Amino acid sequence: MMDLFSDDMRRNPYPVYDQMRSASPVFHLPPFDLWMIFDFEGVKRALVDHDAFSSDLSNAPGQGNPGEWFIFFDPPRHTKLRALISKAFTPRVVANLEPRIRELSRQLLDEVIERGEMDLAADFAVPLPMRVIAEMLGVPAADWPRYKRWSDVILKLANTFSRDEETARTFDEYGAVTAEMSAFLPDLIAQRRSAHQDDLLTRLVEAEVDGERLTQREILGFVQLLLVGGQETTANLINNAILCFLENPTQLARLRTAPNLLPSAIEEVLRYRSPLQWMPRVARVDVEMHGQVIPARKVVLPMIGSANRDPKQFRDAGRFDITRDPNPHIAFGHGIHACLGAPLARLEARIALADFLERIQGVKLASNEPWEPRKALQVHGPSRLPIRFTPSRRATA
Ligand code: HEM
Repeated sequence: MMDLFSDDMRRNPYPVYDQMRSASPVFHLPPFDLWMIFDFEGVKRALVDHDAFSSDLSNAPGQGNPGEWFIFFDPPRHTKLRALISKAFTPRVVANLEPRIRELSRQLLDEVIERGEMDLAADFAVPLPMRVIAEMLGVPAADWPRYKRWSDVILKLANTFSRDEETARTFDEYGAVTAEMSAFLPDLIAQRRSAHQDDLLTRLVEAEVDGERLTQREILGFVQLLLVGGQETTANLINNAILCFLENPTQLARLRTAPNLLPSAIEEVLRYRSPLQWMPRVARVDVEMHGQVIPARKVVLPMIGSANRDPKQFRDAGRFDITRDPNPHIAFGHGIHACLGAPLARLEARIALADFLERIQGVKLASNEPWEPRKALQVHGPSRLPIRFTPSRRATA
């Protein structure tokens, strides 16, 4: 029996995915009454066919959505909110962040570079996206500790699959944080209304489509979604990139001689070790797939991480190849819910990894112990990644 939640499986689920994809691409997991889909075509269909598969988890008996986040809405409500949010979260907003992301990356590496060792996760990959989102929202530096506390509590929600005591405590904490944020947000919004600032919050307040604007509740939901969606995922993209490079030294050597391959290497990391391994759906009706019937109102897990290793879609799917072209992975989802933050995640990864590779050489894992997976179950990547390295001569100069 597959133990989805064991550390071994979460470090390396790929042999099990390969078996399931060929033996039983649609699989019912009885203890949790979950329906898992393992092949590329099936996963893609579950992500895009919203007549058959809903994003609203409250459509399954006994389930609910973690928050009022538009990622869990279906059309037409999702369509309206996505249009409004897209007006605020524009390519320009992302492009404008570039110099600041460079600065944040440089500062974080400055703090550790002379030590010759760091925990890549805690010292670099986790704080970078956290600070970028704070920056984008216009959270003043003085409010960072509060912001960090909010995002830690909201991130914990992602760990809550079972219904034990800890889950109940997490939901209580989340309730308290939501109340705190609801009390705090009107002040921030009022400040934006009285004095226009060049930040995302101002744009969210001002965004208008067909005479409609976002309500305060909808803005709060989006801010919370950014704290979850924008941090844990991007941190894992950076961690997983370094893991992939360490596991594949010839590919790393190639990248060092041809740094223009970095964007394509990042796409390959997204495919090979997808930061989000699944996004849940609920079957709206009985859905037939690969000769099985997924009954209506059941929770479905389209396994993105497995789809991205499907040999029917990717030649030599188990090989990490930074020059792979084409690379039509679905690590950012597909269809109406496709990741809104993908350009930002790619930009952050490009800046962080270019900075890292330029300033750091001779990287090695500092421990022989297998890495510990992050807590959030659908997330793939290490919670700590102690490494040793030599600062490159250019960086020291
Ligand atoms: C490597 C980093 C990231 C990965 C792998 C990732 C992955 C995904 C995936 C798979 C979805 C689709 C969800 C679904 O179909 O139900 C999604 C949606 C979304 N992501 Fe990301 N994401 C990343 C970074 C970001 C960032 C940096 C942000 C924002 C700053 C962000 C914001 C969102 C939002 C708002 C949605 C919801 C879109 C909708 O429902 O219409 N993500 N992401």
